[in-house]
Amino acid sequence: MNTRLLLLLCMMIAWLPADLRAQEPKIITISTDDVSLIYKVNAQNGRLYQSYLGKKLSFESDIQQLPFGREAYLTHGMEDYFEPAIRVLHNDGNPSLLLKYVSHESKQTQPGINETTILLQDDQYPVEVKLHFIAYSKENIIKEYTEITHREKKPVTLYNYASSLLHLDAHTYYLTEFAGEWAHEVNMKETELAFGKKMLDTKLGSRANMFCSPFFMLALNEKAEENQGEILLGTIGWTGNYRFTFEVDNTNGLRIISGINPHASEYTLKPGETFRTPEFIFTYSTEGTGKASRDFQRWARNHQLKDGNKPRMTLLNNWEATYFDFNEDKLIQIMDEAAELGVDMFLLDDGWFGNKYPRKNDRQGLGDWEETATKLPNGLGKLVKAATEKGIKFGLWIEPEMVSPKSELYEKHKDWVIHLPNRDEYYFRNQMVLDLSNPEVQDYVYGIVDNLLTKYPGIAYFKWDCNSPITNIYSPYLKDKQSHLYVDHVRGLYNILERIKQKYPNLPMMLCSGGGGRSDYEALKYFTEFWPSDNTDPVERIFIQWGYSHFFPAKSMAAHVTSWGKQPIKFRTDVASMCKLGFDIRVNEMKPEELQYCQEAVKNFKRLSPVILDGDQYRLFSPYEGEHAAVMYSSLNKDKAVLFAFDIHPRYGEILQPLRLQGLKADARYELKEINLMPGTQSRMACNGKTYSGEYLMNVGIPAFTGAATSSRVVEITEVQ
Ligand code: DGJ
Repeated sequence: MNTRLLLLLCMMIAWLPADLRAQEPKIITISTDDVSLIYKVNAQNGRLYQSYLGKKLSFESDIQQLPFGREAYLTHGMEDYFEPAIRVLHNDGNPSLLLKYVSHESKQTQPGINETTILLQDDQYPVEVKLHFIAYSKENIIKEYTEITHREKKPVTLYNYASSLLHLDAHTYYLTEFAGEWAHEVNMKETELAFGKKMLDTKLGSRANMFCSPFFMLALNEKAEENQGEILLGTIGWTGNYRFTFEVDNTNGLRIISGINPHASEYTLKPGETFRTPEFIFTYSTEGTGKASRDFQRWARNHQLKDGNKPRMTLLNNWEATYFDFNEDKLIQIMDEAAELGVDMFLLDDGWFGNKYPRKNDRQGLGDWEETATKLPNGLGKLVKAATEKGIKFGLWIEPEMVSPKSELYEKHKDWVIHLPNRDEYYFRNQMVLDLSNPEVQDYVYGIVDNLLTKYPGIAYFKWDCNSPITNIYSPYLKDKQSHLYVDHVRGLYNILERIKQKYPNLPMMLCSGGGGRSDYEALKYFTEFWPSDNTDPVERIFIQWGYSHFFPAKSMAAHVTSWGKQPIKFRTDVASMCKLGFDIRVNEMKPEELQYCQEAVKNFKRLSPVILDGDQYRLFSPYEGEHAAVMYSSLNKDKAVLFAFDIHPRYGEILQPLRLQGLKADARYELKEINLMPGTQSRMACNGKTYSGEYLMNVGIPAFTGAATSSRVVEITEVQ
């Protein structure tokens, strides 16, 4: 078409009457390198529809032809009969909402990050809903959150306020949940969804997880597979009650509604106030779970996890080594052991504080954050100094959101404690939760960290624990707004964490919650790593790390070598070396060859951490499949890889197949070298010291498993010219 003709056509379109132009559906495309999420506005009724979610569509002409699909952010009270994304009660008692499209805008906020906002409004009431989508092109991650505002005369009550509603259409849906218990986290279980609703939720208040992690995996048409098939991985960034609702309707359509759990949490929204939901974060893969996880892991390192692209410190923790039974001399001796081991830091755990009620067990002392004089007569200062002299850093455990009923804090400030005024108190691990909806309490909790760092600037790291869910649910501060407690408590926590991050931007911290009770991506904006479980038995950890790896990169997961399992030290250390390596063990009780082995393993881990912690992960052999497990990491340019292979409980007479590797360059040559060998032993791997092409390693594979229970092999794979 020549330019004059084109100009004429544009002018003609511009002259068309507005209502005629409006007949054309507006198309809003949110896309990454591999995924498209497409909305259309129906010009007839002005409502917003999700037309498509799946593999990226690249032709505009095809997108034009997509059917409207299903209504996007469904409301309560109109003609939809299934679970709504939003439900409100207006000033006049009307319980309905009908959202119509008003406008949208898309902009690039940073190279590779695009933000789209769609504004919807009720046609009878001054209620606005803004849907936000942030798309990370290279990592194929889309974040969604919603903002709700109104200009009615008096507050409007929100009963449901989802972060996201996604529609899918497939023949069958397979949902994998990651449920469990203390010391038994993230058990993967896949079930087929049938008509009706399945909900994954928690009501723990101060932590997202104890029974069910805030993430899920959904496979379409076929069960989830590592290297093929359509998969949606989704998670919510909210360190409190969350809910995912999966509802299959009468037409076999699936809607996934994700957000804060609305249970006991209706929220009265003042005129002009904005309710911002947490972020729902998801990816969609047409190449199986492996790619989806690698996308999540890369995105976390590049955009979400605190210091995602910075190195991590190896450490020696004293929790399982001493529990509450320590004094200054013992700790200084353990620091010597840390230095001997070659780790970067000593981490002092629970039991160092409280004087009126010294923290000698878990029944007292939380809230009184001063060193116990009888245990540590020279205070933390002496310990920080000792660590520095030994050339290691000093880290400290705190549990600042909690209070023991036997504490000076409780005696002074019962009004700061979440508790029912007229009932007996119920305790979880003998403790209670401070009321973080109260700004005065937020100041106090922030002050714990700030005071410690002001007094002892040498503290280089915190392990921030949170052992109790909220019990006795009543906030003395919120008075007649009790249904705001679950939401405002979590927002209070974020206020505190934000202040700490502002003042101490380079402070690494571990997120811990009575094992793996907190592992969500909003909290991880403030924490460099999390504690996946109190269960440190390496066999269990193989399963636990496997489960979390679907969403989290190795560098975000602290993994410690302990004496929980009685397996060989090599097996325990090799399992922990797949994540952020640490130790929680008395080094002076190790045999000389065990210590020598650990020293070598620490050196290898530090040398290879750019691959293990910053590379791409490939899950090669699932512990759920059988008696073995294998995971490998490959550097982003594929010139170096590390393979971890484990025999858990091999069967007698089992025929072992070669293990095919992944993530290598087919046409490059790689030399294989078994590392982390016990002193005085030789590699028994036939491939040790040999060179193969990537093509061979990925198609033929290498014998990596054996018939010896709880044995392991670590292989360094290096590209050679
Ligand atoms: C629970 C944590 O998960 C443990 O690692 C340890 O820090 C204890 N709390 C201390 O009370």
